[in-house]
Amino acid sequence: MVCLGNICRSPTAHGVLEKLIQDKGLSEAIEVDSAGTSTYHIGDHPDPRSIAAAQRRGYSLEKQVARQVSPNDFQEFDYVLAMDADNLQHLVSAAPGGSKAKVQLLLDYASGETESVPDPYLGGGLQGFETVLDLVEGACQRLLEQLLQELPTAVREQ
Ligand code: 4NP
Repeated sequence: MVCLGNICRSPTAHGVLEKLIQDKGLSEAIEVDSAGTSTYHIGDHPDPRSIAAAQRRGYSLEKQVARQVSPNDFQEFDYVLAMDADNLQHLVSAAPGGSKAKVQLLLDYASGETESVPDPYLGGGLQGFETVLDLVEGACQRLLEQLLQELPTAVREQ
């Protein structure tokens, strides 16, 4: 999961998908992580407003630490998911040739029309953090359905 600062949107998506995976007992089979395209907040924990909004819905973000996306991410992960069009452009440019197809928008997995997760850091008040969760929760549920189809049957049904 990738956004600009790795302190609001991508940590939220990371925490939501991580909980869905835990609830299915698949933490050993599916790894989820997050990063930012910028260096602005490397080493920081998520924004306290993201932590609080997520906590109210049962997700834990407080242990996450921001980092910048690295070339290794395009090798290690099967999906590299951007929160908005700017992140997408950055990732497509940074992805080594063969891995460009791994880069998508997270909201490609959402049922609605919205393509980008709006950045709550840049205004919009506390409601912006709820909007992030609303969008990300739906997309992560559909994404997990896709991931389940890709797991070997023995792992999926354990
Ligand atoms: P994020 O939000 O990309 O969802 O983590 C932002 C956080 C910090 C900044 C921009 C966006 N910033 O410019 O510091």
